[in-house]
Amino acid sequence: MSETSANIETLKAEVLGQVASAGDERALEDVRIGALGKKGSVSLLMKGLGGMDPEERKVMGPALNALKTDIADAIGAKQRALHDAALDARLAEERIDVTLPPAPQAQGSIHPVSQVFDEVTAIFADMGFDVKEGPDIEDDFHNFTALNFPDGHPAREMHDTFFFHEGDDGTRKLLRTHTSPVQIRTMMAEKPPLRVIAPGRTYRCDSDQTHTPMFHQVEGLVIDKDTHMGHLKWCLEEFVKAFFEMDNVRSRFRPHFFPFTEPSAEMDIGYERVGNEVRVGQGEAWMEILGCGMVHPNVLKNVGIDPDVYQGFAFGVGVDRLAMLKYGIPDLRDFFASDIRWLKHYGFDPLDMPNLASGLSR
Ligand code: DAH
Repeated sequence: MSETSANIETLKAEVLGQVASAGDERALEDVRIGALGKKGSVSLLMKGLGGMDPEERKVMGPALNALKTDIADAIGAKQRALHDAALDARLAEERIDVTLPPAPQAQGSIHPVSQVFDEVTAIFADMGFDVKEGPDIEDDFHNFTALNFPDGHPAREMHDTFFFHEGDDGTRKLLRTHTSPVQIRTMMAEKPPLRVIAPGRTYRCDSDQTHTPMFHQVEGLVIDKDTHMGHLKWCLEEFVKAFFEMDNVRSRFRPHFFPFTEPSAEMDIGYERVGNEVRVGQGEAWMEILGCGMVHPNVLKNVGIDPDVYQGFAFGVGVDRLAMLKYGIPDLRDFFASDIRWLKHYGFDPLDMPNLASGLSR
C-alpha cells in the first residue's frame, strides 16, 4: 500500500467516525463541509490529483472517487436516521392518549372567527340591533336582482359566484356571495323601523393568500323615517372604537360604488406598521375595513317599502379580516386548517363570552 492510499484509509476511518458520532443535523453538516466542502479534507486530496504522474493518478483517481462516494453515502444515511429520530421524538412527545378520561378543565377553545362574531354581536346588540340569519344557498333574486344588480350588469361579475346546476324550473341556485341578501329577507318579512345585523358564511370562487372560497361577513341594516348618513357615520365609528377596544380610531369614509346603496362608501381606518406588526387605530396609512351606504331607493321598492317615507343605511364587513387585524393573525388560510396547535394559540376561553361590561376580549 502506498503512503497516499494509507492516508485515504485513515481519512476515511476518521470521517466515518465523525459521521457516526454527529448528534444532530447541524453537527452532521459541519462534518460534511469539513470533508466534502470546497476546502474539505477530501476535496484537498482530489486537488492533488493534478500534480501526480499518470500512473499514480490512475490508481488514486478511482480511490479518491470511491472515498468521496462512501463518505457522501454515509452522510446521507445518517441524515435520514437523524431526521427519523427527530420525527419519532416529536411523535412520542405529541402523542394523545385517547383512552384517558376527559380532563377536568375545558380543552377546546373558541375559534377567532366565532369570537369576532360574538364581539360584533355584543357591540351591535348594545346599540339595539337584532340578529338575523339567512340561508347559505340563495337564489338569484335575493343575492342579486332585489339588491339592484340588473340582469347582465357588470357588477354581477365582481362576485365570482358558485352556481348550482340548473333546477327543473330552469333557474340556478347559488352560494350567497355576501350577507346582503339577508337585508332583502328581513325587509320582506318585517315592517320598518328595522335595526338588524346578519352574521354568516359567504362564498366566492377565489383562493389565494388573502382569499378563501368560504369566508365570513356581518351585514348591517337600519331602516327608519329619518335615518341619514350622519347616523351611518356615527354608528360605524362607534363600532370600530368598541371593536378595537380603543378610545380613538382614526377613520375616513371614501366614495365607492355598490349597486344596493346610493351614495356608497368604503370606511378606512388608520394604521401603522411597527416592525412586522400592524398597529390599527392611529398612523398615516389607511386600510379599508368595510363597505357601506344609504340603501338605494330601488332596493326599498323591490321589497315593497316606500322610499318617499323610509330610508336607511347598510354596511357589510369582512369578519376574517377583522379577526386577523385585531389578533395579529398573519395568514388567512390557517383559519381553516383545523390545526389544534394553532387553535390553542389563537383560540379563546369558551367560558368567557364577550360583553361590553367586562371587556370584549381577555
Ligand atoms: N355586500 C358587499 C360585499 O360583499 C359589502 C357591502 C357593502 C354591504 C356596502 C353593504 C353595503 O350592506 O352597504 O362586497
